[in-house]
Amino acid sequence: MAQSKRYSQLLMACLSIIFSALLNPAFGGTILGTKHDFTGLNKRAGVQAMPTLAFSNYGTPCVHCHVPPETNGADASKFGSIPGWNRLKPAADKNGVYDLYDSRTLDNKVRVPSPISLLCLSCHDGTMAVDMIVFKPNGWISSDDTALHFRINGANDLMSCGKCHNGRIAHNIAIKHIGTDLTNDHPISMTYAGLTHVDPDFRPPDGPYGFNNGVKLYDGRVECASCHNIHNPDVQLLLRVGADRLCETCHIK
Ligand code: HEC
Ligand code: HEC
Ligand code: HEC
Ligand code: HEC
Ligand code: HEC
Repeated sequence: MAQSKRYSQLLMACLSIIFSALLNPAFGGTILGTKHDFTGLNKRAGVQAMPTLAFSNYGTPCVHCHVPPETNGADASKFGSIPGWNRLKPAADKNGVYDLYDSRTLDNKVRVPSPISLLCLSCHDGTMAVDMIVFKPNGWISSDDTALHFRINGANDLMSCGKCHNGRIAHNIAIKHIGTDLTNDHPISMTYAGLTHVDPDFRPPDGPYGFNNGVKLYDGRVECASCHNIHNPDVQLLLRVGADRLCETCHIK
């Protein structure tokens, strides 16, 4: 009896260490309270509409992107996930209908976005519900599933956050809706021109993972997360460095 009590105390102590490590800012816990915290949105916004109607509240803010630890390394990609992440592939990727940026002067052309950018697009292209995840956390019961699974889309229909987020009932969400036509956005998923060959228009990176100021490369590529850090809300629009210094990190002119 005493033995098993001590054992469970030990277990609780270990669990709380693991949890506080996870929630420590150094380990990425700064999601808490940000716009990507889908457990906290409701409390902050003071409306009940979102988790009960617009999306499911899984009780933890990490599962919207990361595979939950209790799945013990199960392979989410068997279920059609974006490799490495807990989200299903957006339809635009399956059909290959993302229009990526292209121009005559590009050094490296790309056909499909890499997984780490697909992660962002799976919400921000506006085609898929924000709560469309592969593994639900332990303890979440399917009867808590919300009736409507809304998408980041400014449209006025019963599938889009724009139903309320139109600038009248709630703030306008249209500007966060990037869509599947990415030709007007900064190019992504291409090998960094300053890395593979010497293009005098680009600064060489400080190391294989990018620049000392925090701007990152992933396998030598530029991705959404090169410029944005989901886990750092301190800089406006989650930018890795202020907008005034961001471009010149890579571009010389
Ligand atoms: C909206 C998507 C999203 C959510 C929600 C999210 N993360 Fe992340 N996380 C990412 C991305 C993207 C990266 C890779 C970023 C990078 O390379 O800096 C990452 C990286 C990490 C890392 C690795 C840190 C590093 O420097 O490589 C840890 C640990 C982590 N997240 C923990 C968490 C925890 C804990 C939560 C919940 C409190 C959480 N994340 C919620 C997207 C998310
Ligand atoms: C992480 C490095 C990086 C950062 C930061 C960055 N860029 Fe780029 N940018 C690139 C790369 C790489 C290309 C593609 C170059 C190529 O392959 O020829 C590119 C291409 C472009 C193009 C298209 C050029 C063409 O030839 O068609 C424009 C415009 C542009 N960037 C503007 C910006 C602006 C504005 C910013 C700041 C908000 C910025 N970039 C920040 C790396 C970066
Ligand atoms: C699970 C859905 C989801 C995923 C995945 C996701 N986002 Fe978001 N993102 C949102 C929502 C919801 C908002 C808030 C929209 C609003 O308030 O109008 C948001 C807001 C943002 C903002 C604006 C923040 C601000 O302060 O206004 C940026 C930048 C952003 N996301 C970038 C990213 C990047 C980069 C990734 C991939 C690493 C990503 N997001 C992945 C749902 C998501
Ligand atoms: C039934 C109406 C309704 C729907 C549907 C709805 N929202 Fe909201 N939301 C609100 C209201 C009202 C607020 C508070 C006013 C505001 O922030 O503009 C709010 C606030 C927010 C905030 C700001 C919270 C904060 O603390 O910064 C975010 C982010 C957000 N909603 C995202 C979403 C997303 C993403 C969807 C779709 C998946 C969605 N909402 C669907 C009504 C709604
Ligand atoms: C080269 C750097 C760079 C890359 C790559 C990049 N962004 Fe951004 N992003 C910015 C900058 C700078 C802003 C703010 C100015 C603007 O809106 O153009 C921004 C703004 C945003 C916003 C907020 C719009 C607003 O005004 O509220 C969202 C959401 C966003 N980006 C998501 C993404 C996603 C998703 C990707 C990948 C598909 C991506 N970004 C790739 C630099 C970048």
